[in-house]
Amino acid sequence: MKALVYHGPGQRGWDTVDDPTIIDPTDAIVRIDTATICGTDLHILKGDVPETTPGTILGHEAVGTIQEVGAGVTTVAPGDRVLLSCVSSCGRCRFCKEGRYGQCLGGGGWIFGHLIDGVQAEYARVPFADNSVYKIPEDLSDEQVLFLADILPTSFEVGVLNGMVSPGDVVAIVGAGPIGLAAILTARLYTPGRIIALDLADSRLEAAERFGADLTVNNAREDPVARIMELTDGLGADASFEAVGVPETFELAADLVRPGGRVANIGVHGKPASLHLEKLWIRDVTITTGLVDTFSIAQLMRLIASGRLDPSLFATHRFGLDDTMAAYDTFTDAANSGALKVVLCGTESTSRPSRTVAAAVA
Ligand SMILES: NC(=O)c1ccc[n+]([C@@H]2O[C@H](COP(=O)([O-])OP(=O)(O)OC[C@H]3O[C@@H](n4cnc5c(N)ncnc54)[C@H](O)[C@@H]3O)[C@@H](O)[C@H]2O)c1
Ligand SMILES: [Zn+2]
Ligand SMILES: [Zn+2]
Repeated sequence: MKALVYHGPGQRGWDTVDDPTIIDPTDAIVRIDTATICGTDLHILKGDVPETTPGTILGHEAVGTIQEVGAGVTTVAPGDRVLLSCVSSCGRCRFCKEGRYGQCLGGGGWIFGHLIDGVQAEYARVPFADNSVYKIPEDLSDEQVLFLADILPTSFEVGVLNGMVSPGDVVAIVGAGPIGLAAILTARLYTPGRIIALDLADSRLEAAERFGADLTVNNAREDPVARIMELTDGLGADASFEAVGVPETFELAADLVRPGGRVANIGVHGKPASLHLEKLWIRDVTITTGLVDTFSIAQLMRLIASGRLDPSLFATHRFGLDDTMAAYDTFTDAANSGALKVVLCGTESTSRPSRTVAAAVA
């Protein structure tokens, strides 16, 4: 089969590799129908994730069709259309039993395209299939559910739920990349009073408006703390989310929150950030962190099915799966291409464009 293989920092190829086979009785083999690329894949390609070894197939977000199941798989069968979660769950360890699949001790967690071969390929081996895939209702297209593999549950669980967004809240979201935008979409489920998006890039702030931000602040040009204090009678936001992953934006998110408010960190950090306890200790502020568990996939899928959540705005570009190399170029150059998420369509994808060349849809 063909797959997108990581060959060490800065190097990738669309290579011919062996077809995956069942190794454990809880495995399934899935034909990949539709997949996408994540900012984390770009981090791996930069060499920021040393656990990922050269030769690994990248990707952790896909929709596919079950081809074969191991003897221990009972809830899905060949022919079933399924969403693959970016987080696998053994279903048996202490953390899986609490719904904290991201922390799985039994060989699950974020493993696809990280510790084992991923899903930017024609086929993938899916461990713990019973606990890690979700059947897709017939009337939903691949693309409608694809972003449930990672970004929607990440922003919902680690942002909106950890940040305890309530009706009427002022929610400040630092960073309007796919994660910040997914936070806007899922925060809206709770009818906040105002959603304020902050970013350095005007193109991302324009996207934030399309996704439902009430107000945008370019913090390269405007003082974000002064702006948010002005909007909140000098108190600050009820909840602020960090959706970038650098020290400055964590510190900014902490500066934006009101006494008694919540700072939900979503970004993946590679460097220490300052925690200004000397200012925070007296303000009753709650700070949360988290790796996505994806326990909310089924709930969010029901909201998509009922028309209350529409992730279709994320899909800015579509490519044939065999054009994954070009899709990476477009996604890497998001500043110029305007890419939010690129959709990779296999031959059976319900989202396949008529041509396999790049087809910008927005
Ligand atoms: N916690 C989790 O489980 C989890 C899961 C997935 C992704 N993430 C992380 O979430 C973060 C966001 O992901 P993404 O895909 O949206 O990333 P992205 O790089 O596409 O978007 C980040 C956005 O932040 C903006 N930005 C950069 N510096 C800024 C600053 N100083 N002030 C304001 N905005 C700034 C950029 O312009 C960009 O629009 C990343 O760190 C990613 O690794 C976390
Ligand atoms: Zn991802
Ligand atoms: Zn587990």
